[in-house]
Amino acid sequence: MNSRGLALLLAASISIVTTAFLSLLNVEVDALIVTFVIAFSSSYLLIHIILNFLIFNEIKKIQSDVKKLNKKEIEFENTGNFNPLNPLKRIQEEIHAYAVSKQEEIDQLRKTENFRREFIADISHELKTPIFSAQGFVHTLLDGAIEDKKVRQKFLKKAAKSLDGLDVLVQDLLTLSQMETGQIKMQFERFNIFAVVNEVFEQLEGEAEKKEIDMGFAESTSPQVFVVADQQRIYQVMVNLISNAIKYTKKEGSVRVSFEERKKDVVIAVFDNGRGIPEEDINRIFERFYRVEKSRSKHKGGTGLGLAIVKHVLEAHDTKIEVKSTVGEGSTFSFALPAA
Ligand SMILES: Nc1ncnc2c1ncn2[C@@H]1O[C@H](COP(=O)(O)OP(=O)(O)OP(=O)(O)O)[C@@H](O)[C@H]1O
Ligand SMILES: [Mg+2]
Repeated sequence: MNSRGLALLLAASISIVTTAFLSLLNVEVDALIVTFVIAFSSSYLLIHIILNFLIFNEIKKIQSDVKKLNKKEIEFENTGNFNPLNPLKRIQEEIHAYAVSKQEEIDQLRKTENFRREFIADISHELKTPIFSAQGFVHTLLDGAIEDKKVRQKFLKKAAKSLDGLDVLVQDLLTLSQMETGQIKMQFERFNIFAVVNEVFEQLEGEAEKKEIDMGFAESTSPQVFVVADQQRIYQVMVNLISNAIKYTKKEGSVRVSFEERKKDVVIAVFDNGRGIPEEDINRIFERFYRVEKSRSKHKGGTGLGLAIVKHVLEAHDTKIEVKSTVGEGSTFSFALPAA
C-alpha cells in the first residue's frame, strides 16, 4: 500500500467517526455532509503530506542507499543539512554516512589487497632473475664446462655476480620492512653534509666516469654545512639519489648537488639534466619496484627499491622528498634537514 491509499483509508475512518459522532447529537443532514467533506479532505491532506514527506520519502532514500551499498556504488556526497524536526531524516542520514564509511573501508581493503598481490608478483620476479641466472651457470659447469679452466673462471664469476645482486636485493627488502615495522631506530647526530656528499661522489666516481658525466657541487657551495640527522641513512639516501641521477642521464650529462641554508634547516637538492620523469609516473616512483620503463629490462640494473628506501628514511626524519622534473630536460630531487 502506498502513502495515498493509507491516507485515504485513515481520512475516511476519521471523517466517518466524526460524522457518526455528530449524528448522535441531532445535527442536521446538511451540516453532517459538510462536516464529513471537511473532515475527510483536511485529514486526507494532512495525513498524505505527513506520510509522504516525513516518512515515505525518507524510507525510500534509506532503501536506495541500502540498494546502492549492495551494488557498491554509494556516492561520497555530504547531505549536510539535517532536519531536527524529522527523526527519520536523521536516521536516513546516519545510515547514509555509515554506508559511505563502509564503502570507503571496502575500497581501502581492496587497494591493499591489490598492492599485496602486485608486491608478491614483483618480489618473485626480482628474486627469480638472479636465482635462474646463477642456477644456469652452476648447472652448465656441472654438465662439463668445469673442465675448461677459462670457462670455469668466467662462469663462476657470473654466478657470483648474480648472487651478489640477490644479496643486495634481499638487504634492500629487509631494510624496507624493518623501517616499516619501526625496528630500525634513527641515530641522530650532528655532521657535515658536505663531507658526506663528497664521500658519495668518491664512491660513484667510477660510474660517472664511465658515462663521462660531470658530477660535483653547485657553484659557491660552502664546504661546512652542518645538519642533525642519521648520518649513515642520509649517506644511503644520497647514494640512491646521485646514482639515479647518473643512471638516468645521458652520456656527458651533468649531476649537481646544492645546499640551501635557511633559518632552521638546510635544503639538499640533487639536479640532473637527464631524461626526466613523465608527469603520470612522478607520484609512483617512490613505490617499491616501480620503474618508469615498464619492460622489466635489467640492462639499467635497478630493482626499483632505491626511492622507496629514500622515502622511508626521510619520513623517519620527519621530512619528505620533493621532485621536479621535465621530460627531456632533467630532474631535481630535494629535501630539508634540520640545521645544526
Ligand atoms: N634522476 C632521475 N631521472 C629520471 N628518472 C628517474 C630518476 N630517478 C628515478 N627515476 C625513475 O624512477 C624509477 C624508480 O627509481 P628507484 O631508484 O626507486 O629504482 P631503480 O633506480 O630503477 O632501482 P634501484 O635504485 O633499486 O637500483 C627509476 O626506475 C626511474 O625510472
Ligand atoms: Mg635507483
